[in-house]
Amino acid sequence: MQMTSRDSVMVSPSIIAGDLTTIGRDIAGFDGSVIDLLHMDVMDGHFVPNITFGPGFIGDIKKHTDIPLDIHLMIEKPENSLDEYLRFGPWCTVIHYESTRFPIRCLERIKKSGSRAGITINPATPVESVYDILPYCGMILVMSVDPGFAGQSYMPEATGRIEKIKNFAVSNGLSDLLIQVDGGVNTENIREVVSAGADIIVAGSSAFKGGDVNKNVINLKNAALI
Ligand code: DX5
Ligand code: ZN
Repeated sequence: MQMTSRDSVMVSPSIIAGDLTTIGRDIAGFDGSVIDLLHMDVMDGHFVPNITFGPGFIGDIKKHTDIPLDIHLMIEKPENSLDEYLRFGPWCTVIHYESTRFPIRCLERIKKSGSRAGITINPATPVESVYDILPYCGMILVMSVDPGFAGQSYMPEATGRIEKIKNFAVSNGLSDLLIQVDGGVNTENIREVVSAGADIIVAGSSAFKGGDVNKNVINLKNAALI
């Protein structure tokens, strides 16, 4: 495996791995100098089997924190409700390639709103499927689990997929494209994931285990960069 040395990585804790009944108060204790983004997993019970929360809940979360929001839409036809999420001014907004026939229209709407436009692909979707639309994206999220639940194990094939996308981005001059990775990342495998080319790591279980999210994120960053 080609190893790239890096001096920084962003970490985005996925709040569904915490206690959603107290998360508003819990995130008030999150250190903004450690926690770069807050990952919001929106699940509609159709695109994925699970249901989490929608825009009303995200609006309430935003009242409790200045940490920028990272919205991951696991919903069918995101074009029908995108504006309800964009009104919160998220730092990035990610749609699934598999969820819409109009990814470019969605990406352009996200970008126009001032949010970083992200496309994501499930583990079974060939990475080549999105090569033509990467110029419309500010970010690609490589799913390293089938989406739907926190607490699943990292699929090792994801590492090669991250490398393929990184190489494609470098050879095609896509210098602003960030690579995000989501699913099963922990202190044991984060170095491999970041070395393969990831700029932003989503961390659910590994960020919330034991309850000290600030400390867990520091540990993740240290493990990524040693
Ligand atoms: C999975 C979600 C992930 C998940 C990450 O469908 O998109 O964001 O919450 O949790 P872990 O890190 O526990 O896999
Ligand atoms: Zn997610």
